[in-house]
Amino acid sequence: MATERLAIIILGASGDLAQKKLLPALFSLFAQKLLPADFRIFGFARTPLTDAEFRARTAENLTCRYTPDAHECAAFLEQFLARCHYCSGEYGATDAYLDLAAALQAELGQLTFNRLFYLAIPPSVFLPAARALGNSGLTTCDNRHGWTRIVIEKPFGRDRATSDELATALGQVFSDDQTYRIDHYLGKEIIQNLLVLRFANHIFEPLWNRHFIRDVRITWKEDIGIAGRAGYFDDFGIIRDVMQNHLLQMLALTAMEPPLHLDAGHIRDEKVRVLKGIRPLALEDLVTGQYAAAEHGIGGRPAYRAEHGVPADSRTETYGAAVLKIENDRWRGVPFFVECGKALDTKLAEIRLRFHDNAVKIFGAKAPHLPPNELVIRVQPDEAIFLRINTKVPGLETKFAPTELNLRYRAAFTGVIPEAYESLLLDVVKGDKSLFIRADELAASWDVLDGALHELAATQRAPEPYAYGSAGPQGRAKLLARHGLAL
Ligand SMILES: NC(=O)c1ccc[n+]([C@@H]2O[C@H](COP(=O)([O-])OP(=O)(O)OC[C@H]3O[C@@H](n4cnc5c(N)ncnc54)[C@H](OP(=O)(O)O)[C@@H]3O)[C@@H](O)[C@H]2O)c1
Repeated sequence: MATERLAIIILGASGDLAQKKLLPALFSLFAQKLLPADFRIFGFARTPLTDAEFRARTAENLTCRYTPDAHECAAFLEQFLARCHYCSGEYGATDAYLDLAAALQAELGQLTFNRLFYLAIPPSVFLPAARALGNSGLTTCDNRHGWTRIVIEKPFGRDRATSDELATALGQVFSDDQTYRIDHYLGKEIIQNLLVLRFANHIFEPLWNRHFIRDVRITWKEDIGIAGRAGYFDDFGIIRDVMQNHLLQMLALTAMEPPLHLDAGHIRDEKVRVLKGIRPLALEDLVTGQYAAAEHGIGGRPAYRAEHGVPADSRTETYGAAVLKIENDRWRGVPFFVECGKALDTKLAEIRLRFHDNAVKIFGAKAPHLPPNELVIRVQPDEAIFLRINTKVPGLETKFAPTELNLRYRAAFTGVIPEAYESLLLDVVKGDKSLFIRADELAASWDVLDGALHELAATQRAPEPYAYGSAGPQGRAKLLARHGLAL
């Protein structure tokens, strides 16, 4: 029986992700009337909290971006918080979920309701939580009492084998159809715009290949260190935290063939196809680094190994750069330079397509070194799409300068730009899986990096140190040079 009644159950509701991203995103959806009228949110975690304490904690992070009028805002806040409840318990304890089930039934009045479970918990408790949820009978495997969907956050394992193990174990409780693997980068407006940019603008498709594009650079940089996440980060490192998911997803969307239709199945088929077309990364094409203290002793910028909670002999990489090659007709020979790191010179996430040098040499000595055209899709800090072109500087002489045709989102669009988690949570409620990672897509992205990661561990190659606030380790320049890429 189809129902509109919805219970959103957030495991790890006391944590950062739930408090800073999920609950504010749900509030924004509520304020835009995009959630079913009859919904409830149940926070679940070990921390003992009353409903009132949970609501007070939640309220601290809610803002009325869509309803700035103070009266309207206050009314929405009150109505939203009244729908928020909390239960505490151990993640792996079936009994705790039986209590939760009783609370849900008391609130929703009957057994038939849709159930959205969000595992906002560390990966170490994914499986015990999923199994206990299954044992409690709170999840449904058919739709008789409403649908059941589960959202999980990266990291999805440490490598291909552990990712497969996790998928198999979760699969015993939730089918792949019920599982929504989130990569929040895919919810970002500008990333969602990639398919539109490529396939709704006829000018780009003829140029989007090796005949016109010399190289593609996909960058994710932060100018701060690990910001207190030592435990999680030191176990995984930047390649598993960022390259395996955000960077490979950006690469897949940049390089995929046009899907036959714009639906989840066809889009993900094409992403899998291009990921499978990437030659597995060779260790020699992978640079790893770890940040050392800032040069000149700038305070507050310690070495990674001096960060609170990081072992003094940690070999975890905080920087990774790789050159990937796609073995298909569109991209053969084009280097894809993917780079991610913490404690670097700037905060930036972007995709940069660099075109071949201008073959027409009519400007001679007036313009001996015209820089190549570039198309840049900037994800952060401030969303923009710009095309770098060479222009004549106004004046009586013929002088050239690189300039930008620039689409800055904040200037071009006056409406509120939705947060990634707003789009993604709405898609889960609607059952649209286009922006979520399918099991075979996850496997294909692990296959790109798996061999190199195992070899890196086996050879015990240490990450190269780089100064906090610098452009990264020296190996970066060498890798670029080896593939004929300018700095
Ligand atoms: N924060 C983000 O923006 C972000 C982005 C991408 C992915 N993620 C992923 O999303 C998940 C949650 O992120 P988060 O930042 O919210 O994590 P978190 O704050 O470290 O943990 C969430 C909650 O889990 C419980 N918890 C923490 N350590 C635990 C342990 N060792 N054993 C059992 N329970 C533990 C805590 O609640 P109680 O003690 O009350 O049970 C905590 O409030 C993680 O898997 C993370 O990798 C987060």
